[in-house]
Amino acid sequence: MGQVLKVQPSFAQDELLVIAVPHRLKQAENFVQSNGGQLISLKGKSGVDLSLLEPDKHQALLFDDAVSLQAVGPKAPGAVFVSFEGNAMVHRLKHGGGKGEQVAKAVGLNRVAAGHSLSVLDGTAGLGRDSLILAALGCRVDMYERNPAVRQLLLDGLDRATMSLEVMDVTARMNLHEEDFIAASQALEDESVDVVYLDPMFPERSKSALVKKEMRVFKQLIGCDDDADQLFEPAFRVAKHRVVVKRPKSAPFLAGQTPSLQMKGKSGRFDIYTKKGFGG
Ligand SMILES: C[S@@+](CC[C@H](N)C(=O)[O-])C[C@H]1O[C@@H](n2cnc3c(N)ncnc32)[C@H](O)[C@@H]1O
Repeated sequence: MGQVLKVQPSFAQDELLVIAVPHRLKQAENFVQSNGGQLISLKGKSGVDLSLLEPDKHQALLFDDAVSLQAVGPKAPGAVFVSFEGNAMVHRLKHGGGKGEQVAKAVGLNRVAAGHSLSVLDGTAGLGRDSLILAALGCRVDMYERNPAVRQLLLDGLDRATMSLEVMDVTARMNLHEEDFIAASQALEDESVDVVYLDPMFPERSKSALVKKEMRVFKQLIGCDDDADQLFEPAFRVAKHRVVVKRPKSAPFLAGQTPSLQMKGKSGRFDIYTKKGFGG
């Protein structure tokens, strides 16, 4: 067994540390070439100790059996990665009705005739959890994600899902566009998808921020999508039937636009901007 590599805090603040086991090295090299970051090969090493690094300044993207985002520092929480398999909700949605789920109602699935599916554009894919639910409900989902590290997590999750009998039919309906939705929307025609779904990062207040320690590393990487208001106009143009915006409970309306409908849950809400009904 090789020695554990201790990483010294010698790389620039905010620079992503990209760590790869030998069989993922090529992929990690390609990532660094396109997106930057400092590459560390684990060839001959059994692992990496990131405890010397400062948690607020650095992060690591690990290319191992899965690709994961790892916080650093002495008490770093667990890694964040995308796993579409083993999701109890997906199992339930695949085998039961599911149209009563809040997100299903928010996108309007309860208004669509039986046997018809919806095309949904998820303009802020993140870790793909909402897209997965929508795909499990039968929607065809085009996901847009602009952060290169998050895209790696998604690509890796989608790749592993192709080998899972349990979920491969669901993820086959999920298509990742490695682009910023605001920029990419210029090439999209008016009303070219049934529903646009948005869930930009919003600065959470302390209570909810404590919910999952692992998610802090994700938030640290993404920041808080300061340009989120710009998502609204292209979303409304491209959607045929409605735009659905997922918001924390106390967040203001996206782009100051008052929704036509609202659905409120325990921790958050869906703001719904309707256009044509699903009959037309
Ligand atoms: C709160 S997360 C979304 C979580 C997601 N709904 C889920 O279920 O995992 C927001 C994500 O949207 C991405 N994002 C924000 N603005 C974007 C844009 N204009 N185009 C593409 N992705 C964007 C961010 O990089 C981040 O990964």
